[in-house]
Amino acid sequence: MKTLLNLILLFSISAFARGGDINNLALTPPMGWNSWNKFGCNVSEELIMGMADAIVKAGMAKAGYEYVVIDDCWQVGRDSAGNILADAKRFPHGIKYLADYIHSIGLKFGIYSCAGSKTCQGRPGSRGYQFQDAMQYAAWGVDYLKFDWCYDEGQKAEAAYKTMSDALKSVKRPIVFSICEWGESKPWLWGKGIGNLWRTTADIRDCYNCLFDWGGVGVLNIIDLQADLYKYAGPGHWNDPDMLEIGNGGMTSDEYKTHFSMWSMMAAPLMAGNDIRNMDKETRDILTNADVIAVNQDSLGKQAIRFMDMGDHEIWAKPLNNGEIAICFMNRGETEWKLNYDWLKNTMYFARDINIRKKEYAIRDLWQHKVIGTTKQNMSQIIAPHGVLMVRLYETK
Ligand code: GLA
Repeated sequence: MKTLLNLILLFSISAFARGGDINNLALTPPMGWNSWNKFGCNVSEELIMGMADAIVKAGMAKAGYEYVVIDDCWQVGRDSAGNILADAKRFPHGIKYLADYIHSIGLKFGIYSCAGSKTCQGRPGSRGYQFQDAMQYAAWGVDYLKFDWCYDEGQKAEAAYKTMSDALKSVKRPIVFSICEWGESKPWLWGKGIGNLWRTTADIRDCYNCLFDWGGVGVLNIIDLQADLYKYAGPGHWNDPDMLEIGNGGMTSDEYKTHFSMWSMMAAPLMAGNDIRNMDKETRDILTNADVIAVNQDSLGKQAIRFMDMGDHEIWAKPLNNGEIAICFMNRGETEWKLNYDWLKNTMYFARDINIRKKEYAIRDLWQHKVIGTTKQNMSQIIAPHGVLMVRLYETK
């Protein structure tokens, strides 16, 4: 019965409506905030509205954070016609009211569901209701859908995500589609054109270097898992190494800077996951670092390549628009990295992207926000344990 209703909806929608073109969405990595990392199931209208206000007030909106996404646990059931129902106690004015409010302050609204029969927290999933849910989301004013992979009941991921993608494309509202199947069936091989971003790993944990036997992964592990996937990222289709933990308390300031720098280098979606209403200055300064965000949001849409791996010391490069380049020196070790870098000697690594031998480039330190030299001289810097030196090279006239 469910499937029949879904089929009827599929035919009637595709016959009469032409929906959003997924390829024109998320041309740079999506930026926003998501409730999961900090609040888990403890979501409500009050929380989400307060967070949206804080995103504007803290300067996050100005810095580029746009999508306010409610993750799992907003939904409690379906009515007799199969329409998804929000928790009326926690969302007393309903979801449209919330979406309207978020739009009224200049932000966009995102929601969460699952390709399985239930979400990961056991709430109703979208299996069998994809087209009905897509119509509901469009009617509410949803701009972004994160779609999970619990209770998949043996479905094939590519087909399951394509069904929801078709449903979203059929409604008259552009909705960014975030595939969340944790990299299990290599979504980078099939996700382009189906979704705008796909998770590449298990869930992030608020730690620098940790692995949990039930699947949680720390920042360093995620970086290693995603390093080789650079060729699959580009405008409209991004590798997603999961949401940010900055400000949640489990890492040092240097480690959070590394987290933010490397997510930006990897052209990852930047979805803050902390309590924006109560963040300290240090957290805000990291999350709103315009120099680093500009690297993440660069219109070329390239994911960085790890071009030098010297054990504890790594060098990553991300070509940027206008022939510029971002370089991130990452110190994984427990002691300081006393770097003395000869740009000319290492020129071969950049040969394809910039011409260091012929031209002189200024080096801007993206955390100190100042020029620290040019490529004509060696660069001497001390990089803290678990820290980074992130620079942008641009031609001097
Ligand atoms: C999965 C996802 C998380 C989060 C939870 C919610 O674990 O990977 O990001 O959405 O489900 O239940």
